[in-house]
Amino acid sequence: MTRQLYAVGNWKMYKTSREATQYIEELAPLVENCRAHVYLAVPYTSIAPASHYAKDTQIVIGAQNMHDAREGAFTGEVASLMLKEAGAKFTLLGHSERRQQFRETDAAIHKKVLRALQDDIQPIVCVGETWQEREKGQAEEVLRNQIMACLGEIPKEEAEKILLAYEPVWAIGTGKTATPEIAQAMHAHCREILGELFGKRKANTISILYGGSVKPDNVAELIAEKDIDGVLVGGASLDPATFAKIAHHCEKGK
Ligand code: PGA
Repeated sequence: MTRQLYAVGNWKMYKTSREATQYIEELAPLVENCRAHVYLAVPYTSIAPASHYAKDTQIVIGAQNMHDAREGAFTGEVASLMLKEAGAKFTLLGHSERRQQFRETDAAIHKKVLRALQDDIQPIVCVGETWQEREKGQAEEVLRNQIMACLGEIPKEEAEKILLAYEPVWAIGTGKTATPEIAQAMHAHCREILGELFGKRKANTISILYGGSVKPDNVAELIAEKDIDGVLVGGASLDPATFAKIAHHCEKGK
């Protein structure tokens, strides 16, 4: 079974709505006919305008986070149905910046995954170890715990809607990318754990993305690895021409 390929941009807290729509207009012709899925996780305020401008293009718009409740007294939060109505087709969940700066736990991420699936928003679940954990030889165990806690009890038939992103925390925004060998080994490890949860066959259909300082000049060697099915790109997704180059690398090498 061939897995789908993805180039996912994560803008983080960058770009106003006006900047977002200009970007989409520039990116759209550059990724026309790209064989990889081109996703952009944009700030909440840009979801509706970006979705409007991305209509009839190759670009799919999503969010960077959401709350797990359907609605309620949660000041400052956004619910999945609100995202959906604004045009979001997917959301990142459990990004390391959410885990570290906003103290999101695996248990909270698990609830969000369930809610997203229920409301038909595709979850991109992020996992990854810190440098300290890697140095102590705990990277594999950290990933196992995160994946088991975030994706346990997900019905098998829902599993194929999920994307997993392996993002070593030490590689995010640091310019330090994992070597293709490290990334491949960790992706294979993730796939093994997905196999334990959902069965080997299903695990082989789930795309696993690599994230952490991905750039046009390192993406080809990463995507060439057997278990790397795409990339999650922060800084280098902020410029449409750079992100388009990355997206085109994602359709090659397989
Ligand atoms: P980076 O961010 O590409 O800037 O390292 C990746 C991410 O946070 O998803």
